[in-house]
Amino acid sequence: MTQDELFKVLVAHCKEYGFIFPSSEIYDGLAAVYDYGQMGVQLKNNIKNYWWEAMTRLNENIVGIDSAIFMHPRIWEASGHVGAFNDPLIDNKDSKKRYRADVLIEDYLGKIEEKIEKEVAKGRKKFGEAFDEAQFRATNPNVLREKAKWDEVHNRYVAAEKANDFAEYRQIIIDCGIVCPISGTCNWTEVRQFNLMFSTSMGSTADGANLIYLRPETAQGIFVNYLNVQKTGRMKIPFGIAQIGKAFRNEIVARQFIFRMREFEQMEMQFFIKPGTELDWFKKWKETRMKWHVNLGMGADNYRFHDHEKLAHYANAATDIEFNFPFGFKELEGIHSRTNFDLGNHQKFSGKKIEYFDPEENTSYTPYVIETSIGVDRMVLAVLSHSYTVEPLENGEERVVMRIPAPLAPIKVAVMPLVKKDGLPELAQKVVDELKYDFSYQYDEKDSIGKRYRRQDAIGTPFCVTVDHDSLVDGCVTVRERDTMKQERVKIEDLRAMIEKKVSLTNLLRNL
Ligand code: GAP
Repeated sequence: MTQDELFKVLVAHCKEYGFIFPSSEIYDGLAAVYDYGQMGVQLKNNIKNYWWEAMTRLNENIVGIDSAIFMHPRIWEASGHVGAFNDPLIDNKDSKKRYRADVLIEDYLGKIEEKIEKEVAKGRKKFGEAFDEAQFRATNPNVLREKAKWDEVHNRYVAAEKANDFAEYRQIIIDCGIVCPISGTCNWTEVRQFNLMFSTSMGSTADGANLIYLRPETAQGIFVNYLNVQKTGRMKIPFGIAQIGKAFRNEIVARQFIFRMREFEQMEMQFFIKPGTELDWFKKWKETRMKWHVNLGMGADNYRFHDHEKLAHYANAATDIEFNFPFGFKELEGIHSRTNFDLGNHQKFSGKKIEYFDPEENTSYTPYVIETSIGVDRMVLAVLSHSYTVEPLENGEERVVMRIPAPLAPIKVAVMPLVKKDGLPELAQKVVDELKYDFSYQYDEKDSIGKRYRRQDAIGTPFCVTVDHDSLVDGCVTVRERDTMKQERVKIEDLRAMIEKKVSLTNLLRNL
């Protein structure tokens, strides 16, 4: 199965098992908007808890807030979003379809990279043990030809991006022969800027309604509360403010399922520091955030940093943590050194002094900021795409198992009476009563045990507990583990501790 096909299968699986549904489905859906189902919401909440506790509980100097989605419209002028939160769009005149010009070019570059990797894979297969990859990349004519093409287009693209030269974007698209996938033609319009903020109006028109925006990031709710939190919390620099909440962007090209949505959720933390210390803190937060990801056990090789070549005018360092999604390494989280741009501008636009008095140095300054910003939905997609596994079974059948890191699994334990009679359901209910205060669970007495195991594998439940006739006599149950499918007899009173060891968020946090 190609990665593309696998991704389609994953999307279908997410719907079939109650993780994610297209929004407004009975009205044929709403583009790039999704709803979380009964499994998805629990996975999402577990991810949010892991982040929230890691930020606000493990760091004495980080506190959390929950600011409103609606904010004063001047905030978005001060932040630069009204003037500059734009994407370059281009239309195909024949299909009337709209694309992001930069994405068309990046996809083209991605295809060249794929060709190079295919050549390298062919070489590896041909030469076996004797394969010297570095030498192959440096000498193989096909690789060299594709690499030269990649370099030329990439250099032009980076220069155009730096200069905000949209005519050059269009020229690159035409010179590379990039066609619209629908019409197959190269009949493109000029490239135009498109602001990504959604707007609405507050108050009735008779009152003189105000144009307001749905926030495109949660960060500004933190900046405008800097003084409130610093004063009421008696916070001393360095300190951080964390927030989880919805953000909205009118993405031109929304695709790849929940990777790029129009309504999504962010987990953002702004860390306020003394000017001049930002590069040290930037390094520290890069390490801390990478550790948070790797701690989930989804493979350190599946993450990498991508340092930004082009920095926003207010940033002096920026990197992405990229994850190996089914469609390649893509941004999962951003870490930015934002200087004092935001606080400085809010000071200017609001007329309120936003400074920190440093009692040790007896001076006041506008703090600098390191920001960590991760999309909840992208994190859900990273977990789901990494977890989806199809495995052959000894009996020749297959099982689909979601190897979700156990502390994030929506359901931690399934309790099943072997049969629906002989007092087994009653004992199973007692087991449920023993476990339900600590773990999310499902009680299942329908179909064969094999079918019940398959259902739990498909949603990633780490443990299945079966109550059988022996249980009535010896007070033990059979515990079957999701990944190894190993079974062992465990005393009912020991169940809680056994499950806790593997699924506990506390243990996950302790490893950080
Ligand atoms: N405050 C900084 C900020 O918003 P960003 O790189 O635009 O930075 C941060 O967004 C993170 O939010 C991204 O790394 C990504 O995980 C998530 N994100 C951004 N746009 C998204 C979208 N349209 N759909 C889903 N997640 C998105």
